[in-house]
Amino acid sequence: MGHEIASVLAGEPNLTARMATVAAMLAASFDHYLWTGFYGVDPDKREELVVGPYQGKLGCLRIAFGQGVCGTAARSRQTQIVDDVHAFPGHIACDSRAMSEIVVPVVDAEGRLIAVFDVDSDHPAAFDSVDREGLERILQDTFAD
Ligand code: SME
Repeated sequence: MGHEIASVLAGEPNLTARMATVAAMLAASFDHYLWTGFYGVDPDKREELVVGPYQGKLGCLRIAFGQGVCGTAARSRQTQIVDDVHAFPGHIACDSRAMSEIVVPVVDAEGRLIAVFDVDSDHPAAFDSVDREGLERILQDTFAD
């Protein structure tokens, strides 16, 4: 998957084009990905995420650092895997079918946090260390190299 994304994006520097392509290709590859996309760090706000390219139903537009699963990933800069979103304090429900979630911080080549990548699944406990490693590698290769 990573190689296919890299070959589509070869020579394309635009950040929106890169994010949109990653979201579209991953969402098309996995049936259990219900919402797949990016929340970018808003450069005009202090510690706030704003929705970026995604595939899925309408998501909320803004999430403060520390809020929900995305804001927790942004503040901690650690990938979050949530097996049961209903048990996560402060989870922000965008699609009532969502049952589990993974959020991976996205950093640029200078190590700055630029976004988080969020996937919601309609299956419980859909994400494990294999998903974490695969997504972390794709995001690193696409945005930090
Ligand atoms: N569930 C996320 C919010 C974003 S939507 O799921 C698209 C959260 O708790 O951060």
